[in-house]
Amino acid sequence: MDKGSQVSIIIPTYNEAQNIVNILKSIGEHVSKIARVQAIVVDDNSSDGTARIVQNYIRDSGTRDGYTVDIVERSQKKAGLSSAILHGIRRAVGNVIVVMDSDFSHPPQLIPRMLETLRQQCDIVVASRYSSGGSVVGWPLRRRILSRVATMIAHVSLGVKQADPMSGFFAFRRSVIHGLEFDAIGYKLLLEMLVKAKNARIKEISYTFTDRAAGTSKLGAGTIIDFMRAVWRLYRDGSRVREHRASVRFTSKAARFYTVGAIGLGINWLVSTMFAANGGLWYIHANVAGIAASIATNFVLNKAWTFEDGDFGARRTLSQGVRFAAISALGATVQLAMVYSLVEYYALEYPVALVLAVGAASFGNFVLNKTLTFRERLVS
Ligand code: GDD
Ligand code: MN
Repeated sequence: MDKGSQVSIIIPTYNEAQNIVNILKSIGEHVSKIARVQAIVVDDNSSDGTARIVQNYIRDSGTRDGYTVDIVERSQKKAGLSSAILHGIRRAVGNVIVVMDSDFSHPPQLIPRMLETLRQQCDIVVASRYSSGGSVVGWPLRRRILSRVATMIAHVSLGVKQADPMSGFFAFRRSVIHGLEFDAIGYKLLLEMLVKAKNARIKEISYTFTDRAAGTSKLGAGTIIDFMRAVWRLYRDGSRVREHRASVRFTSKAARFYTVGAIGLGINWLVSTMFAANGGLWYIHANVAGIAASIATNFVLNKAWTFEDGDFGARRTLSQGVRFAAISALGATVQLAMVYSLVEYYALEYPVALVLAVGAASFGNFVLNKTLTFRERLVS
């Protein structure tokens, strides 16, 4: 970085009165030597006076040579980390943007190396806890596990290659996000960038994340739900391949439908045996419970996964559910009738008849649900 280039550093805050001045000073110390810096604090109506403290700091320190501090004040309390960062980006004047926490978990000393790496060879630099040399200090086991599991889910389901796609500490050229649209809900802006910025060159630099000394974490249980939603949306929008042939799409949906069917069999068996054994239900009643449970889970899985319909609005879901259950009942009837007639009139062995009947009924179910329940063309 030459001193002429301009860097915008975005620092979202919610109740960080104890940290904010120190982090602003530390950034001034470590970064303003090597580039012109615009720090942008995005505060979500903190109740501990964070915004006022920043305003006083701006007033008292003025614009020192090459280091300005701006504040974006949002009126809604704790309106979300990603949306705060997106707000900050809109205010950024630099062509290079850094995103970091205000609580010293992300060491400002690392920023010069991030900028240097960015300048030399890439578009996005991720400060990484999980690439070799990196680590996390001070997190309880629960938090460590959650973070690792979330990272694994991102790797497996989204095909993200970076060791720490959930990092909150990263730098990028403004140009890589040109034209991209981000989901403002949640914590995972970097993950979205990694999935959506298809041709970006990405590097990771390892560092040690140290849990905050002052204040408390703002991540709550809702974060897990936000995360699962974000992954699902990225999976749906990011990996859907429209250019596949229609036949491939048809087959892949059928394969999902059959996979769900197999899962349903397992659930049916589990619930039936559970109720019969522990609940002491008559085995026929237990079996009815098993059938109901498997129809319900099959419906949800087929809706969300097989047919990629993420709209779980009450009316829509109910009317689809009713159609799904009716088609399941019809399928069962067809299967029974087929087994009976194949054995009685065509003299087939029962296992052979069963395979034929299950095959025909389940394929019929697939076709009917595709067209009637989820309103797709048969081949599209
Ligand atoms: N404006 C605004 N609005 N700021 C927020 C909000 C919000 O709703 N929620 C959190 N922040 C700010 C905090 O004040 C802090 O500066 C930063 O965002 C990170 O929040 P923490 O509460 O300190 O997060 P953490 O340390 O538990 O989580 C860390 O690890 C995650 C991945 O495991 C952070 O680095 C996250 O960014 C990261 O995703
Ligand atoms: Mn933190």
